[in-house]
Amino acid sequence: MERTWWKESVVYQIYPRSFMDSNNDGIGDLKGITSKLDYLKELGIDVIWLSPIYQSPNDDNGYDISDYQAIMSEFGSMEDFDELLEEAHKRGIKIMMDLVVNHSSDEHQWFLESKSSKDNSKRDYYIWKKGQDGKEPTNWESIFSGSVWEYDETTEEYYLHLFSKKQPDLNWENPKVRKEVYDLMTWWLDKGIDGFRMDVINMISKDQSYPDGEVLEGKKYADGGSYFLNGPRIHEFLQEMNQEVLSKYDIITVGETPGVTTDEAKMYTGSKRNELNMVFQFEHMTVGNGPDGKWDRQPWKLTELKSILSHWQVELEEDGWNSLYWDNHDQPRVVSRFGNDSDEYREISAKMLATCLHMMKGTPYIYQGEELGMTNVEFPSISQYKDIETLNAYEDYVTGNRMSEDEFMEAVYYIGRDNARTPFQWDESENAGFTKGTPWIEVNPNFKQINAQAQVEDVNSVFHYYKKLIQLRKNNSVIVYGNFEELMKDDESIYAYTRTLNDEKLLVICNFTQEQVDFKLPSDLNDTNKQLLISNYDVNENESIEHFSLRPYETRVYKI
Ligand code: NOJ
Repeated sequence: MERTWWKESVVYQIYPRSFMDSNNDGIGDLKGITSKLDYLKELGIDVIWLSPIYQSPNDDNGYDISDYQAIMSEFGSMEDFDELLEEAHKRGIKIMMDLVVNHSSDEHQWFLESKSSKDNSKRDYYIWKKGQDGKEPTNWESIFSGSVWEYDETTEEYYLHLFSKKQPDLNWENPKVRKEVYDLMTWWLDKGIDGFRMDVINMISKDQSYPDGEVLEGKKYADGGSYFLNGPRIHEFLQEMNQEVLSKYDIITVGETPGVTTDEAKMYTGSKRNELNMVFQFEHMTVGNGPDGKWDRQPWKLTELKSILSHWQVELEEDGWNSLYWDNHDQPRVVSRFGNDSDEYREISAKMLATCLHMMKGTPYIYQGEELGMTNVEFPSISQYKDIETLNAYEDYVTGNRMSEDEFMEAVYYIGRDNARTPFQWDESENAGFTKGTPWIEVNPNFKQINAQAQVEDVNSVFHYYKKLIQLRKNNSVIVYGNFEELMKDDESIYAYTRTLNDEKLLVICNFTQEQVDFKLPSDLNDTNKQLLISNYDVNENESIEHFSLRPYETRVYKI
């Protein structure tokens, strides 16, 4: 397999609104990020993925862009951006921008023109359709609830919005739209940025026959996913984008691709395909989702999670490349979801989860605060929540009498996006040191126990553990390039695997439970020359590992 810098990198995601506020207006900003670059340098990451910083009315916190070449005024100015880029580069840190081009904001100049009349030159920049007998053109449900179609009285047609009605979908069938996108990408790359994370990029090609989907019992709309995920022209569009733009730069690219399978991922990321470096898959994030999706919480088993992650490891072994993540701005905090956020086990389980992910093959992503073991939050009232997905779902489920308020709030505490969006916990001062103003969303009340300052000072902290994992990856190419093999597939407590590169072998053992569990070394593995690389408990390094008992959430990595 070809060796490249982006396979060897660790990426750190910043959600600028919640990272660091430099001017005390309660909203994180670019100068705030610049002021914390030394912290990120100390952690050891290579690339920052910046969630959107472009001009936006903030219907979906910047994922609704009204000008792709301007900075959101709340975040600062273009000079602030240039300074951030320069200061990051000085420290050897690259910057990957979020590219949100499945849709724009309805306040983008293109859309304002498009909706002004049917014969406007930008009409076909978006997807307009007539209704069917007074109803929407299709029965598809928006990812943010309700119909994907919004009626516009001026021209008496509907426009498509897979997300909120303030996020109209761009019409990628129109070559002029594609050219506009390639031009703006080129403009940013020429400024010196180092890559793109492409928002829902596998939604840009829609089935042009726009068929209705099947409406499940008790629902008003259908899941139209099969008509817009990995659509008919997606690979053609990405290859064109690659040829027109990406291939001209030495950059990192990752596509966000909900609903992607390993076969499709190989098409997006195969080394001869000339599309993307890697994709974000979502299968492991759907563990515990019921038939009605993410708000419908169901029990889950470790074997389900393991088989998904291992399947991705094995399938992309020869060609293509994985991204590795537990957390991002759309997911709850992993220590609360797959670990244990009680005082007793939070640190130990956060370290175990980090090990499990960072020892796999792929490029690891750390979401801000994950390196501190930041947790989910439980705000008592829905009025304290800001996320449009959560608020729309509340209307749909609670106001629409499909779920009790208590049941819905439990789901929000478990899976809601605002769990990841509470301000970064810098220190134990007011508002966790994030702002001296009023934060746009409340701080998690546990910031006195969980904050960066305390953890940087404590060599046994989750922060230092992440730092060590990152260093291990830099010093051991088996972690980057080794083959993956799962052990004990049917075990409901332990996730164990090996990584092998030439004559080097790693053994990774993770106890996902609060119980003591037995580990037996498979007979074809040998522990005579073992060397402990990292562990989250004190371990007697000479002790045999042929058969031993793992403590709650214990993890160990051996070179064997
Ligand atoms: C995926 C982004 O990660 C999410 O935050 C956003 O709401 C949607 N795409 C729409 O842009």
